Amino acid sequence: MDIKRTRIVDLLKRTDFGQQVLVKGWVRTRRGSKAVSFIALNDGSTIKNVQIVADLDKFGEELMKQITTGACLSVTGTMVESIGSGQAVEIQASEIEVLGTCGDDYPMQKKGQSFEYMRQHAHMRLRTNTFGAVMRIRHNMAFAIHQYFHNHGFYYFHTPLITASDCEGAGQMFQVTTLDLQRVAKSGKVDYDQDFFGKPASLTVSGQLEGELGATALGAIYTFGPTFRAENSNTPRHLAEFWMIEPEIAFMDLVELMDLEEDFLKFCINWALEHCQDDLEFLNNMVDKGLIERLKSVANTEFVRLPYSKGIEILQDAIAKGRKFEFPCNWGDDLASEHERYLVEEYFKKPVIMTNYPKAIKAFYMKIDAEKPMCMGKQQEETVQGTDVLFPQIGEIIGGSVREENYDKLMSEIESRGIPMKDMWWYLDTRRFGSCPHAGFGLGFERLMLFVTGMQNIRDVIAFPRTPRTAEF
Ligand code: 4AD
Ligand code: MG
Repeated sequence: MDIKRTRIVDLLKRTDFGQQVLVKGWVRTRRGSKAVSFIALNDGSTIKNVQIVADLDKFGEELMKQITTGACLSVTGTMVESIGSGQAVEIQASEIEVLGTCGDDYPMQKKGQSFEYMRQHAHMRLRTNTFGAVMRIRHNMAFAIHQYFHNHGFYYFHTPLITASDCEGAGQMFQVTTLDLQRVAKSGKVDYDQDFFGKPASLTVSGQLEGELGATALGAIYTFGPTFRAENSNTPRHLAEFWMIEPEIAFMDLVELMDLEEDFLKFCINWALEHCQDDLEFLNNMVDKGLIERLKSVANTEFVRLPYSKGIEILQDAIAKGRKFEFPCNWGDDLASEHERYLVEEYFKKPVIMTNYPKAIKAFYMKIDAEKPMCMGKQQEETVQGTDVLFPQIGEIIGGSVREENYDKLMSEIESRGIPMKDMWWYLDTRRFGSCPHAGFGLGFERLMLFVTGMQNIRDVIAFPRTPRTAEF
């Protein structure tokens, strides 16, 4: 009788001992004596291994020699109650087939390799406990995000990856071209007429502008897709290719936006606590002892809502009392991550939603506040209804804003910043034809993953990281 393969995650829940079962997976470890071998087999469905007990007189030496760390096996046997394996179930093997042997140059053979070593072998690191856990959590977080927005009446909206507009205006775009660069270099000039799109085109830094078209038609949308930034920042928080979630909602104001950001993040964190227990426990033991505690605390705490000007006053007060920072933080400065972390980790000890930033340090599309703020006893320049959600360990996890819906005000921002108008006409049409108040935000998926897994480097929460000078696997 042919039996169907059982996934290890399902097998470990069963109690119908005595049944014949079939499992397939990769050898994690093998130990034993002259008479019997214990093989820890993992198939990726769970962090847990199943123990295979193989009596050596039943299997020839030839076969046993091939059962090394990393080899792929198909095992048939009897499911028995286990005493010593750490699981309730083990398999007394009756048949073992080696589907794929594994040479002793297998890069994941040794336990306890550094994360740097793992990155150099990113094509194989997925088979380790840590990266298995991270990837399963990543799937669960993606699922949670779709669940949340679907439950709340948002439509999943696909925005283009190739675009001609620089949404954030930071000039960090990867150009997309079919022009032959050697020939261009020889001729000494670029003729975009000859290029694929007949004009310069790039990979998108954000789906927001197209998302606004979606929201002003469907009411509420969200995007969830790859985003590209050619910023040359080799930090543990930046990728050149990352995934972003961007909801955009018609008729939403600043308070509702902050409510949404907070509710959404808490939903995702609670989802992980509920659905990724085994993997979180593993990461909590092996990577970050404070992880589960921190997740629970953030899920159960009210986020602080802090106007930028108030934040500056807190920071200046700390400086006056002797706290040292590397970078200055006067009104008008973009806060450095040391400032953000001071506010979140030391001062408030909880997530902070910072709002009402100086207009000059934020993107052109943010709605301008009606009044100029007071800070350090002085009236300051114009501010905008932008929100950054700042998290412990991470810094900025979300950037969002209410959008400027007034055509004239938006135009004047576009002009004063010298943004090429001819690329923007379609976006401006939203403000000409039935313009409406609206708001949205962008969550960096890998930043969320950093928080939820306790991993320290953003390169370790995406399977194949893209950073300056690395695109190997
Ligand atoms: O703050 P950002 O630049 O905002 C936008 O792109 C808006 N258009 C979003 C919107 O309102 N729809 O980016 C949003 C988030 C950041 O808070 C951060 O979490 C993440 O994207 N992010 C990055 N993540 C990894 N690597 C990078 N290089 C990132 N740049 C931004
Ligand atoms: Mg930002």
